Amino acid sequence: MRLAGKAAIVTGAGTGFGEQIAHRFAEEGAMVVVADINEDNGKRVAADIEGAIYCKVDVTNTLQVRAMVQTCVAEFGGLDILVNNAGIVQKKTPLQDLLEEDFDKIFAVNVKSIFFSAVHVIPVMKKKGGVIINLGSTGAVRPRPGLTWYNASKGAVVTLTKSMAVELADDNIRVNAVNPAISDTAMLLDVLGGEDTPEGRNKLISTIPLGRMTAPKDVANAALYLASDEAKFITGVCMEVDGGRCI
Ligand SMILES: NC(=O)c1ccc[n+]([C@@H]2O[C@H](COP(=O)([O-])OP(=O)(O)OC[C@H]3O[C@@H](n4cnc5c(N)ncnc54)[C@H](O)[C@@H]3O)[C@@H](O)[C@H]2O)c1
Repeated sequence: MRLAGKAAIVTGAGTGFGEQIAHRFAEEGAMVVVADINEDNGKRVAADIEGAIYCKVDVTNTLQVRAMVQTCVAEFGGLDILVNNAGIVQKKTPLQDLLEEDFDKIFAVNVKSIFFSAVHVIPVMKKKGGVIINLGSTGAVRPRPGLTWYNASKGAVVTLTKSMAVELADDNIRVNAVNPAISDTAMLLDVLGGEDTPEGRNKLISTIPLGRMTAPKDVANAALYLASDEAKFITGVCMEVDGGRCI
């Protein structure tokens, strides 16, 4: 059991990568808060995991993020691991065509949420250390066209991960990121520009040396490693889980 007795929050755990991360952490002994804005999905995932609880949260709302942290501490006696996984993508579009409101939403969900979580989580973790894992993307380091503002938000995640790691090292809080390549989750349709065709999928896969998309389980296993004591000397790393896409 690599996370025995650890209390973890996984945001956006109602589906996709977050759902798999929540399951994987629980398999290794963690007590998991399944945090998601989507109540039906969050409750479904929490019900599937023994000992997990669901917490409804909009990660762009600082009061709700504070309540999420308080729920974890009240239910599980502390908070050891936070996975900032909730994120949204933009529909593939020329960079000058994105609406201002969509730009703001992307940065609120993908970047500002990490600021809010830091504000509320660091005071709790400071007492005995902890682990923060952020979901970046290969788009941060090897951007694809048509996703410029999403890529930029993930670029911010990469930079803030390294900066947080350096600033929080004295408090024994490790901060790392996982950079997945494209995956067959709810986001795929937008990345494909709204039309899911075998040709569109093959075009994406053809740029990945290992010849397939990232699977949610690949991301969950990487997050598990980074959360575990096996990675206790690893901080500030943004780990590509991408079948070689970024080479
Ligand atoms: N799927 C990919 O191809 C891919 C590739 C690289 C990185 N990522 C990143 O991985 C993370 C997870 O992606 P995914 O593919 O599992 O996405 P997904 O769309 O399948 O799931 C995202 C989850 O986040 C939740 N969510 C959205 N906005 C929220 C908010 N304001 N507050 C709380 N929860 C909210 C949704 O309800 C959903 O359950 C994201 O940060 C994404 O940018 C995804």
